[in-house]
Parts: sequence; structure tokens; C-alpha cells
Amino acid sequence: MIEYISHQNVQGVKRKTLEVNKIYNMDCLEGMKYIEDKSIDLVITDPPYKLVQGGCTNKAVTLKGATNLKSGNVFSDNSIKFSDWIPEVYRVLKENSHCYIMCNDRNLKELLIESENAGFKLLNILVWKKKRHSPNRYYLKNAEFIVFLRKGKAKNINNMGTFQCLEIDNVENKLHPSEKPVKLMEIFICNSSKSGDTVLDPFMGSGTVAISAINTGRKYIGFEINKEYYEVAKHRINQYINNNVQIHI
Ligand SMILES: C[S@@+](CC[C@H](N)C(=O)[O-])C[C@H]1O[C@@H](n2cnc3c(N)ncnc32)[C@H](O)[C@@H]1O
Repeated sequence: MIEYISHQNVQGVKRKTLEVNKIYNMDCLEGMKYIEDKSIDLVITDPPYKLVQGGCTNKAVTLKGATNLKSGNVFSDNSIKFSDWIPEVYRVLKENSHCYIMCNDRNLKELLIESENAGFKLLNILVWKKKRHSPNRYYLKNAEFIVFLRKGKAKNINNMGTFQCLEIDNVENKLHPSEKPVKLMEIFICNSSKSGDTVLDPFMGSGTVAISAINTGRKYIGFEINKEYYEVAKHRINQYINNNVQIHI
């Protein structure tokens, strides 16, 4: 049961909206309908996408929670297309804001095209250099890409000494098959928002972006369609808050 709050928008129209500092167990396409235009300061997300061809579907790369690796699908909910959700993300973002979208080489071209179609401008393609790699016959995969975009006018990142290639350890003891490091998300949050801003992640998984937002004194809002992952994320966030988090910015 989703709790909506009644809200009067700038035109004085009464609308249902969603509370911030919450994650919602729902399809992000449905959820984002309840987010006002130009109300979000930053989007950081790691959407579902197809895995790379040329990999191996043997035991060595079998992921916990994976459903259909041979078809390239990792999650049961893997069918959403970039063209379905990127325009919505663009709509809810404020003018002159940033957006970070994680992807692999197989999906990079489509992601760039759909981002541009939605109105985004490309600022950079960042690389997460992982300490571990996955097997692949066309060079071992030890990198993931982050497409760094802007809506509206260009603005600098807060720490202009940050490198394009970010070398950060993979997550040990994952709660989710494609859980990302909190440290990586914190770099993006600190560089593209300020304290008290709201960060949206439409594909929360285990809630990594929410934890990173809490750590850095930002608000968060996010969606996760899968009930099991949603419960994992909710538990992780609650446990984190109850353990008196020390904010580090
Ligand atoms: C790549 S994972 C995100 C992992 C996350 N970065 C983490 O650190 O745990 C993508 C997630 O999007 C979810 N998902 C897929 N389609 C969705 C939709 N339409 N709305 C919301 N969540 C969706 C999947 O269930 C999956 O958990």
C-alpha cells in the first residue's frame, strides 16, 4: 500500500506526490508519475540491461538471484527499455542538473542515443575500474561505464580534481547480484549535489544510492519493482539509520 501525500504544485493544482527519504516497491514508470516536474536535484541509477555477449554462462559467472544468463537477462524484471524511463527522469530533474547512468559496453550506444533523444547532453563517460574481473574471450572485463549527463546549462562538478577512471573495490558479501559500492555513488553525489538536495534512483536494487545519500546528508527517493530486493533495501536502510550513521561529506 503506497502512501501518497497531497501537494499543491506551482500552478496551484492539487496533486498526489510521494514522500522523500523513502523507497517504494513499485514499477518506476508508475512511481515517477507522482514526482513533480523539475523537482529532483540529481539522478544516479544502475538500470537493468542485457549482459555482454562473449562472456561465459558457466558456474564461474553465475550470479546469486540471476534468472536467465544465456539470454543476457540477469533479473526477472529486465524488460524495461531506456526509451521508456529516460524521458521521465529528464522530466523530473531540475534545470542545470546532473544525471549518472551505469551501463556496460553492449548497451552504451543505445543509452547514448536515448539520453540525447530525451534532451540530455553528454558530459563524460566515466569508468569504474573493478578490482575483480569477469571471464570474457574478448578481453577480461574489469570495467563498468557510467554515462554522465547534464540537463540544461553546464555546471562544474564540486571536486574538479576527480579522475574519470575510478578504482574502487567490488562489494564483498553482496545483498544483490549487481550491488554497487557505496563509495562510488558517494563520489557522484558529492560532486553533483549539495547537502539537503534530493537524489532519485528509479532502480534501487539493494538501496545503495539511498545509503550513499544518507551518508552524505542528502534526501533520497527510489523504486524497486522486485519485492524481495525491496525488502532487502528497506531492511538495509533501516538498519543503517538505527545504527546512528555518521555523515561524511
Ligand atoms: C542493476 S540492479 C540495481 C542494483 C543496485 N545498484 C544495487 O547496488 O543494489 C537493477 C534493479 O532494477 C530493478 N527493476 C527492474 N525493472 C524495474 C522497474 N520497472 N521499476 C523499478 N525497478 C526495476 C530490478 O529488480 C533490479 O533490482
